[in-house]
Amino acid sequence: MGTAAQSRVCATARTAVLASADASFRERMRSALSDLRWQVREAQGGAEILACLDASPAEAVVLDSWLPDLEIQEFVAEFKRVHPEVDLIMADASVAAGSAARGPRRNEVLHALRRAQATDDAIWNSAPDEAVMRTFGNGGTAGADSEPGRAEVRWHGPGLSAPSVAVSAEPQCGSVAAAGTAAGKVSGLPEFVGSHPAMLEVSRRIRLVAPRTTPVLIEGPTGSGKELVANALHRLSQRSRRKLIALNCAAIPEGLLEAELFGHTRGAFTGAVDGRCGRIEAANGGTLFLDEIGEMPLGLQAKLLRFLESGELQRVGDNESVKVDVRIVAATHQPLARLVAQGGFRADLYYRLAVFVIRTPSLEGRSEDIETLTRHFLEKFAKESPAKQITAPALARLVAHSWRGNVRELEHALERAWILAEDRPRIDAGEIELDEPD
Ligand SMILES: Nc1ncnc2c1ncn2[C@@H]1O[C@H](COP(=O)(O)OP(=O)(O)OP(=O)(O)O)[C@@H](O)[C@H]1O
Ligand SMILES: [Mg+2]
Repeated sequence: MGTAAQSRVCATARTAVLASADASFRERMRSALSDLRWQVREAQGGAEILACLDASPAEAVVLDSWLPDLEIQEFVAEFKRVHPEVDLIMADASVAAGSAARGPRRNEVLHALRRAQATDDAIWNSAPDEAVMRTFGNGGTAGADSEPGRAEVRWHGPGLSAPSVAVSAEPQCGSVAAAGTAAGKVSGLPEFVGSHPAMLEVSRRIRLVAPRTTPVLIEGPTGSGKELVANALHRLSQRSRRKLIALNCAAIPEGLLEAELFGHTRGAFTGAVDGRCGRIEAANGGTLFLDEIGEMPLGLQAKLLRFLESGELQRVGDNESVKVDVRIVAATHQPLARLVAQGGFRADLYYRLAVFVIRTPSLEGRSEDIETLTRHFLEKFAKESPAKQITAPALARLVAHSWRGNVRELEHALERAWILAEDRPRIDAGEIELDEPD
């Protein structure tokens, strides 16, 4: 081998570029690869990966399935063209679709990925069957939902397979169109009634992101299940033994919000008779759910951003900093990107929160789900009083309605109808009172 080729091998041998927006994942992966004597360079986005490789070559690139500044499939195509010799491995351990290069030490990277995941999530430390159950909820089947055209995702570890995950052609955020292909044969989480592809996509996304510390932004209209998503994210995370603390930014007067979030010392302001820890501290080790984040005043957004960047906060009236470890889940009924464009929300905070977006779909147009949800709610009411059926004309009225208040509105309409049906065993169309004309 010539000297030029030798020096190239030396430069690339055991060097990996790690591309993920999730700092804690990068840290664990760096540690796992360093133990295997790899040199690691980190990138937070696609542009940085290319800059890293331009600066000096690497043997492998480990690429997260979502990065803030790129569309993965486009990036992979471009990457193969520019760097055909570099082994491109997805962070979920799949091989990037069509990736030709296969580095001699790919198994080491896969091993490190498995270790990084194991540290992130006790799932991988538990017995395989239990791990699969916890990851998939009821009725899920690990590794069974791979489809033609999707990169195969399998752990190469002994006897333990991880969920199959679509990594190609996936848009940044869950959309109905994406759900039709990406959700595939995925089963819904038990608390999410409905089998519309957009609903299954919500469950799929929850399963993918719940075990990580990645911040999640939930967007969806009122009553569409945003809080349900936040609860599921916490339940399926390693933090589920600690608290899920919720704060509705729209429900607390602006003047009190800062103290509520960050806590305060005794005498920090008029009426602060005792010191109190805030919701962020209360969620230490667990999940902080910031509901209606779009309503947070701009001044407080700056303070929240500082906390997210440093992991430290100061109670109101205190000079001491406190370190807090929380996973942030935020929700909004108004598209946050639009608020950013209108100047009502800080762009830098938006990018911090919207690392992974889950969209809860509106109920309109999901007629098959209206039927299933109706059955679900009638069964729920029947636990407290004698069961009732719904007649076909009554159901037809429900299906034809526009449901601006989404699932919550449907639940309330059925509760009303249940009461109006008195002790009859059937709910008829006359008992369906809707909030607005059809
Ligand atoms: N897919 C679903 N399956 C079963 N129940 C659902 C579903 N989606 C929502 N619900 C129920 O509908 C009600 C409203 O849901 P939730 O409070 O999560 O909505 P939300 O999006 O947070 O609403 P808001 O924007 O008004 O805060 C709850 O009772 C919830 O359990
Ligand atoms: Mg809510």
